[in-house]
Amino acid sequence: MSEKLSFVNPTANSPWGTYLSQVDRVVPYLGPLARWVETLKRPKRALIVDVPIEMDDGTIAHFEGYRVQHNLSRGPGKGGVRFHPDVTLEEVMALSAWMTIKTAAVNLPYGGAKGGIRVDPKKLSLQELEKVTRRYTSEIGIIIGPHTDIPAPDVNTNAQIMAWMMDTYSMNVGGTATGVVTGKPLHLGGSLGRVKATGRGVFVTGREAARRLGLDLRGARIAVQGFGNVGSVAAELFAEAGAKIVAVQDHTGTIVNSNGLDLATLIPVANKEGVVAFKGGEVVPNEAFWDVACDILIPAALEGQITAERAQKTSAKLVLEGANGPTVPMADDILAERGVLVVPDVICNAGGVTVSYFEWVQDFSSFFWDEDEINVRLDRIMMKALNQIWDTADRHKITLRTATYAVACERILMARQERGLYP
Ligand SMILES: NC(=O)c1ccc[n+]([C@@H]2O[C@H](COP(=O)([O-])OP(=O)(O)OC[C@H]3O[C@@H](n4cnc5c(N)ncnc54)[C@H](O)[C@@H]3O)[C@@H](O)[C@H]2O)c1
Repeated sequence: MSEKLSFVNPTANSPWGTYLSQVDRVVPYLGPLARWVETLKRPKRALIVDVPIEMDDGTIAHFEGYRVQHNLSRGPGKGGVRFHPDVTLEEVMALSAWMTIKTAAVNLPYGGAKGGIRVDPKKLSLQELEKVTRRYTSEIGIIIGPHTDIPAPDVNTNAQIMAWMMDTYSMNVGGTATGVVTGKPLHLGGSLGRVKATGRGVFVTGREAARRLGLDLRGARIAVQGFGNVGSVAAELFAEAGAKIVAVQDHTGTIVNSNGLDLATLIPVANKEGVVAFKGGEVVPNEAFWDVACDILIPAALEGQITAERAQKTSAKLVLEGANGPTVPMADDILAERGVLVVPDVICNAGGVTVSYFEWVQDFSSFFWDEDEINVRLDRIMMKALNQIWDTADRHKITLRTATYAVACERILMARQERGLYP
């Protein structure tokens, strides 16, 4: 009875359930470290907060907020904050756990954390959005900090929201603490290259995966789901490399153009009104997105999008997971059986946290690097991590996802073992 009620038990088809099954798959490759694996299946700390604000019309609204620190064995918590009406504690647990794996996979000195508020920010005025952000930051202020847990942007959060978070935390501690969040505006201790970093990482890992598959990017057809920060930047970089973006889906709908969508005109329209307002493509039903003939599929929206059925029908040869947790475990197996290569989220979208790390380092040293230096360092870290994971996958004949978990979990559990259990 009590086991059933435990918050660590996943509900059906949840991202947390997906994460737990990904961990189960890596256990055979952990050797003696497997005795520590339970630590990966339990968040270290989860905080649920009430976020009350006075709305513009004078009513009082309450929103539910979370901050989960999944694992801090290798360093302070790191992970974004999501504003979305469907956010749940379980989703934030999964996202925080994927951060633990991701920071270890690219060997950054961090643990994994994540936060979120159950709110639709599109329904708030700018003033209400600021109030929600500040009150939430104040509530989670007891567990975040430059040396303990460093939030960053995620779905529906941006540099302005990071600026409010930094200011609120700083007011509460009585001194400017730029290192408490990353993804800040440039003149507030932000880093060059941060905005495009995740999309750039998707491109760098995707280009290398395509090279190894013998897939020429020139003329390659790409379908992108989610056209925000990650999806649009990745699309731009692939288009610059000669690929054609043949389908794009966002929360407003789906557009296709087999000759390639013109991104220079699409991006401003998508940012303002959503992709269906764009005139240079044909609007099709959302489910038709998965039938579009393509070579590369980039899920860059939310979790659980590549279901078994969609995995069965996609014509892509390569899937680049810009989003966190877009592929359910059953779909992963189907893609592997069909010979579709998946570059998993925990390496593919690690470019954002890598440049967040650079931002944090620059804040501490108060010495800022130029964009070329940032991009060179980013590309080097991503390539090194990908090559190591590829070697591990080849050695054990396992998928890139399980190989990434093998490399990352070894680092995390080794740190756990060497630190020992307190007391
Ligand atoms: N921003 C980062 O640095 C970063 C880093 C790593 C991973 N990610 C992950 O990438 C994904 C996208 O994040 P982002 O920062 O680009 O967010 P964003 O808010 O900038 O964009 C999200 C996009 O997804 C679309 N979308 C939302 N619901 C959808 C639906 N039901 N169907 C289709 N499209 C939908 C939105 O319209 C928007 O285009 C998330 O999974 C996030 O966790 C982001």
